[in-house]
Amino acid sequence: MGGLCVDLRVELAGIRLRNPLVLASGILGTTPSLLKRVEKAGAGAVTTKTLTLRPRPGYPNPVIVELDFGFVNAMGLPNPGVDCFLNELYGERKVEIGIPVIISVGGASAEEFSIISSKLRKYPVEVVELNLSCPHVKGHGLELGSDPEAVYEVVSNVRSNLPHTPLFVKLSANVASVLDIAEAALRAGASGFVAVNTLRATVIDIYAKKPVLSNVYGGLSGPAIRPVAVRVVYELYENFPRVPIIGVGGVDSWRAAVEFLLAGASAIGVGSVIARKDLAVFSEILKGLKTYLEAEGYERVGDIVGLAHKD
Ligand code: SIN
Repeated sequence: MGGLCVDLRVELAGIRLRNPLVLASGILGTTPSLLKRVEKAGAGAVTTKTLTLRPRPGYPNPVIVELDFGFVNAMGLPNPGVDCFLNELYGERKVEIGIPVIISVGGASAEEFSIISSKLRKYPVEVVELNLSCPHVKGHGLELGSDPEAVYEVVSNVRSNLPHTPLFVKLSANVASVLDIAEAALRAGASGFVAVNTLRATVIDIYAKKPVLSNVYGGLSGPAIRPVAVRVVYELYENFPRVPIIGVGGVDSWRAAVEFLLAGASAIGVGSVIARKDLAVFSEILKGLKTYLEAEGYERVGDIVGLAHKD
């Protein structure tokens, strides 16, 4: 029997992706050559490590703990600074990357986001992710991202510097109302959401009788957070059905990817599973997704986006 020819392409705020898998921020996105490796492994788009105005060395070790059900990490946003990274990515010795690169940026204030976004204007940046949800770096992320007014100010500043660039706001589930944050971001000109960042967490070493991470607080990722991430994606789609969502959180198989698509994500972030399965996980998920769509009689990935909401 000749099977259907399944189309894995998706569109995100006007950006075409060859398939819905996106390298999540913070995973391998520290150098352009690593991003190139992820492209070769089959991803539809890649996200850089979050870039800040000035270089950050990150926290001292230990910065990551592996658990049975995921990871808790607190890297401390290590990055070479936005200028250095963008020069490397788009400068003379640039590595040609043939899929969209999502530039993730973080800042300690709306003003800092404004300065960073004015720097981005000088480069052919295709998509921007605003990291307003890091759960543990003081002054960054959640401290802005849990306040709708601060989110409005950050997104408005970036939008006025980048009037035509797709802007995705990375949200946290560690807030009183993710819908209030999302609504403020949209009002200020956001194009879409990345949902969700890691959840604030702590691990104690029972023999040292102390927290394991040097920073004490970190972010939980992996399969343990998937139902929380799926809940946020579902809530966002229910309330803002036309706004594109990149669903992230514990995607470790094609089944998990399908779950996010049905909840309303148009694309899916792949993150900590890479530490366990390596980059081969991209082709594994794509193969399973294609087989599922064929078996269920769908021609396009888009046919199942948000299907769990329909009667
Ligand atoms: C880190 O660099 O520590 C994590 C970044 C994030 O959670 O956004």
